Amino acid sequence: MINTNGPSLLRLGVIMTLAGVISLSVVFFWFSPSNKCPPPVFKSHQYSQISSAKSNSSPSVEAEEKPILLLWVWPENYRFDFSDCKKFYNIDNCHLTDDRSLYNDADNVIVYHRNLQWDLSNLPPSPRPPFQRWIWLHLESPTNTKRIPGLENLFNLTLSYRQDADIPVRMRLMTRKKPNEDFVIPKKDKLVCWIVSNNDPSTGVDTRNVFYREFSKYIQVTLFGKAYSRFLGYDEYYPTLASCKFYLSFENSIHKDYITEKLNGPLAAGTVPVVLGPPRRNYENFVPAESFIHVNDFPDAKSLAEYLLHLDKDEDAYRKYFNWRKHLTPSPHLILQTQEFILAICTACDHVARHREYKEAHDLYDWYFN
Ligand SMILES: *[C@@H]1O[C@H](CO)[C@@H](O)[C@H](O)[C@H]1NC(C)=O
Repeated sequence: MINTNGPSLLRLGVIMTLAGVISLSVVFFWFSPSNKCPPPVFKSHQYSQISSAKSNSSPSVEAEEKPILLLWVWPENYRFDFSDCKKFYNIDNCHLTDDRSLYNDADNVIVYHRNLQWDLSNLPPSPRPPFQRWIWLHLESPTNTKRIPGLENLFNLTLSYRQDADIPVRMRLMTRKKPNEDFVIPKKDKLVCWIVSNNDPSTGVDTRNVFYREFSKYIQVTLFGKAYSRFLGYDEYYPTLASCKFYLSFENSIHKDYITEKLNGPLAAGTVPVVLGPPRRNYENFVPAESFIHVNDFPDAKSLAEYLLHLDKDEDAYRKYFNWRKHLTPSPHLILQTQEFILAICTACDHVARHREYKEAHDLYDWYFN
């Protein structure tokens, strides 16, 4: 019995397996979002013909399908590799380029506000192709934005930290179904920390400086950053944040939705952010109410300091600020200066691949400043 059926069962098995591998590979190839994937390896050369036929036709099909997103200038001249979108965010659904010779074919063009000249002489050429959408990229708050005239009715899409932008840019906490029970609060050897790189009064930092001067009378704050000549290396950023019980997430200027990586850093590092910025309700659009302390929760800087000193003694009360980690996962943001615009540009890439609708963005400054 075994002698007669064994070999034929084995043959059947081999045939079934091969058929499965071939059809899976064909399906994989046909729907593969990336044209950089290496062709699957086939053992028998009979099948390698199928694979090479598929891999020849695949890239051109993909190239036609992906919308072209042209980066007109590199923001602040911070260059990065476009493949970073795939690497960091798994975004690979548009054709990103900085090659201006593709202008007439570009479905979308990103124009970076701060690089524009006052006379608009470095805008992309007009008339633009009728299908082409221009994207206004700007990540600063209104306090730090120049009203360059002539942009009011030029764009199709806005790319900004604002939640009501056509393409909002933000690091988000991710939900998880299976509770994570393994989160451990990192070891702390400092109470309150603050990294300050910009202390230029013209950028609106006055509110936070006034608050800080009063606050620091009542509690010890460890300072880092350019403004205090204690510059932190990039690899020291997350470990340093993690070693503090609290971190001052003080925005330089106060505007709706202007909640930056200053909040994401401590959340990702396992530190409790003490925020100064828009009202608490605005923060609660993005992160849970119990994950941070808002300076406006207290009548003055002194009572905030007293509360933090109390939490320093009360381990259980402090621990409650991390309950959210069971059901939500933060993602560390990219911290190199040259990486500042990667998230925004990749988010735009993903957006234009999913949304191809006609759109005009009118009265840009009415929207942005009011
Ligand atoms: C883009 O916006 C401009 C200016 O409002 C408008 O003239 C143009 O038709 C729009 N194009 C597309 C494709 O949305």
